[in-house]
Amino acid sequence: MVSVLFVCLGNICRSPMAEAVLRHKISERGLSQEIVVDSAGTGDWHIGKGPHEGTRRMLDQNGIGYEGVKARQVQSDDFEKFHYIVCMDKSNGSNVRKLPGGENAKLLFFMDLLPEEELREVPDPYFTGNFEQVYDLINAGCTVLLELMIRENL
Ligand code: 4NP
Repeated sequence: MVSVLFVCLGNICRSPMAEAVLRHKISERGLSQEIVVDSAGTGDWHIGKGPHEGTRRMLDQNGIGYEGVKARQVQSDDFEKFHYIVCMDKSNGSNVRKLPGGENAKLLFFMDLLPEEELREVPDPYFTGNFEQVYDLINAGCTVLLELMIRENL
């Protein structure tokens, strides 16, 4: 069993999109019993809410389900529970590091999965409005992440 937690700021745009996309790819590969996927935000404003309308639109357009995906805040015991903690941008990473136990979290930055891209952070579509761009990055990065997890852990 291997587990991955995506982290963004609000947990309604980028990280729930990544959660749904990766879970879909895992299911297509028949690996749902082997890999646990979740997402969380460093902020607490949207706890309990489903994904943002823009995220839902991209998932709907691509036939990806998001049933039960609900915002929550990242917490210290996530650092023990999850093998990979994948942050969408640098500030998410520094906020995780500041939490108790965060200095030990095994952090990855999402854009490190896509070294050929000039962008080094996943832009926040809550502010840019560009959910298409974020979907394309997340879709490509999740393919790389799944291959990495298969190579290293399964
Ligand atoms: P996310 O986007 O971090 O990709 O979920 C945001 C959602 C909400 C807020 C900021 C970013 N907010 O400030 O409420």
